Amino acid sequence: MSPAKLNVAVVGLGIGRQHITAYKALPEQFNVAAICSVDDRANREVSTEFSISTVLNDFDALLRLPEVDVIDICTPPMLHRPQILAALLAGKHVICEKPLTNSVNGVDEIIAAERQSGCRVMPIFQYRFGEGLQKLKYLVNTGLAGQPTAASVEVHWRRRADYYAVPWRGKFATELGGALTGHAIHALDMLTYVFGPVRGVFARTATRTNPIEVEDTAAVTFEHESGALSTMSVTLGSSIESTRHRFVYSDLVAESNTRAYSSSGDPWIFTPDRNDIAKSIETALASFDWKSRNHVLTSGKTSSAGSTLQGYTAPAGYEGQFTRFHTSLVRGDAFPVTLDDARNAIQLLTAMYYSAATGQFVVLPLPKTHEAIAGWHQ
Ligand SMILES: NC(=O)c1ccc[n+]([C@@H]2O[C@H](COP(=O)([O-])OP(=O)(O)OC[C@H]3O[C@@H](n4cnc5c(N)ncnc54)[C@H](O)[C@@H]3O)[C@@H](O)[C@H]2O)c1
Repeated sequence: MSPAKLNVAVVGLGIGRQHITAYKALPEQFNVAAICSVDDRANREVSTEFSISTVLNDFDALLRLPEVDVIDICTPPMLHRPQILAALLAGKHVICEKPLTNSVNGVDEIIAAERQSGCRVMPIFQYRFGEGLQKLKYLVNTGLAGQPTAASVEVHWRRRADYYAVPWRGKFATELGGALTGHAIHALDMLTYVFGPVRGVFARTATRTNPIEVEDTAAVTFEHESGALSTMSVTLGSSIESTRHRFVYSDLVAESNTRAYSSSGDPWIFTPDRNDIAKSIETALASFDWKSRNHVLTSGKTSSAGSTLQGYTAPAGYEGQFTRFHTSLVRGDAFPVTLDDARNAIQLLTAMYYSAATGQFVVLPLPKTHEAIAGWHQ
């Protein structure tokens, strides 16, 4: 059993600042006990902005702080796997930004280390916790959506030269991949979260917008285990930035909003196939109750599943993932995003890159003997 209030240390202060903001919004669950980055200016700024007094520029020294329960890793991608392994060895729970690593073997090493450590690791996929996507997940789980048939996904974003001025971006050795690994990975997780696992994939990738080593454009087709088919279009060269998911099930069509960075949030449009289904869907959405899926009240008390307390809206994004992390850790339940979820994403990325490199349709799961199992860029 972990303590009710967790002391978290945030490592890396780019996107890490948004993580700190989310923890600060959950003061009954988290205390940001320390920050760590190799940028002294960022350390000073963040320390002042968020009133955090323990500031380090040495990750190993951070791991020696006995008061820290959770290490939240927001450093460049090539550091994630070694920092996760070191934090587990030091007896800390870990939250880690995407991507965890760049190979199925790498994620299996993390899974094995977690089992040995007695601590736990939660990968970040915060887009899962938007209200619109959660409503669809609810309709799918209650059987009201019917069978998945077809889906299309668009991730059309814009990244310019200034984005790649940061030295770790744009290279396989440090960013670990391009638009698929670093950007579309969220949309991909949203796809498999509600449409189910993938049994085969065909992908093409290209670099068409910036002079970088990694891909910034992709077109992918997926065959799901259910037999449903889906497609995904990705570019980092679109002057209109948007993200879009359209899911066709036998009994309804679900369409996301198209805001680039919050497409999982409300509003989503759910269009039933028939009048009789329309009533059931309307009733289900009217009674859609965050609380029964979230179990955490702003008062810091824990509700029982199915509680009907009024007036509580579960947070989305990072805050939504962190509050669920806290509840799961205290209860000993599965995390809202698991290492198996991250393994599935990394296996899918491996298959997509392998397909793009060879022109083959790649069948999942990849055998441990597969030539790309140790990484998509070796
Ligand atoms: N989930 C999302 O929506 C989302 C959004 C943006 C970034 N990210 C991910 O977050 C990670 C960081 O991205 P970013 O854009 O914030 O990068 P960034 O370059 O802006 O920040 C990286 C931070 O890590 C620190 N750092 C580097 N080496 C370190 C070390 N050895 N020890 C301690 N600190 C170290 C740097 O000082 C810096 O503060 C990446 O993996 C990225 O993919 C996720």
